[in-house]
Amino acid sequence: MRKWIVAGNWKMHNTIAESIALAKAIKEGASDFKGGAIVLAPPFTTLFNVGEVIKGSNVFLAAQNMFYEDKGAFTGEISPGMLKDTGCSYAIIGHSERRKYFHEQDHDVNLKVRKALIAGLTPIMCVGETDEERVKGITQDVVGRQVKQGLSGVEEIDKVVIAYEPVWAIGTGKVATSAQAQEVHAFIRGILKDIYGNKADDVRILYGGSVTKDNVAELIAMEDIDGALVGGASLKADGFLGIIKEICVKK
Ligand code: 13P
Repeated sequence: MRKWIVAGNWKMHNTIAESIALAKAIKEGASDFKGGAIVLAPPFTTLFNVGEVIKGSNVFLAAQNMFYEDKGAFTGEISPGMLKDTGCSYAIIGHSERRKYFHEQDHDVNLKVRKALIAGLTPIMCVGETDEERVKGITQDVVGRQVKQGLSGVEEIDKVVIAYEPVWAIGTGKVATSAQAQEVHAFIRGILKDIYGNKADDVRILYGGSVTKDNVAELIAMEDIDGALVGGASLKADGFLGIIKEICVKK
């Protein structure tokens, strides 16, 4: 049985005071949701504060990115050890916004996933095709390449979480249909089966892209969708708790 995960990616939003208030509201509202993991990914500047709020609860802390070196002259970067120091147990890696605006390649994603595992952080590795790629009919080529290259040399697949986030569905309100999402999730699990055999059945694959409390029920009913990576709708406690409730009830 795969345990669900609902992760809120706050992206570049929230001051320290706003982060503390939101984390408190989510922690209080989520105390009854059992059987899975609730994860918050605030900006780096408020990780420590959010970590203090959720300490000892059923809510866990994630970074939105990390570097793959332990220390050194890498201005502006943050190491896995520093993230653990703030209380992080997860790290989102290879988000499409990192790939698009900061030119992260599959090779960088791979280095980060491997480093996260060595450091004891659970990587949430993001993959997904653009609108143009879907229209061209190369969704599986793109997602297949991202999964295989991102996981190159990775043995501990049971410690990896994958997030399928079609780029055209992120922040657009244009959610993938449950059938579209399931098709790609099943495709990803098929790749994992080829590489890792039966262990693939234990890997959590989250869907991300315009998830709200109103559309999540249909998505989460799909066999290979094990949770959600939520952007916009994770910035308000009510909306985020509504999503967790649906998933908690259905999975
Ligand atoms: P939205 O939920 O705002 O579409 O963002 C999804 C996302 O990018 C989560 O990482």
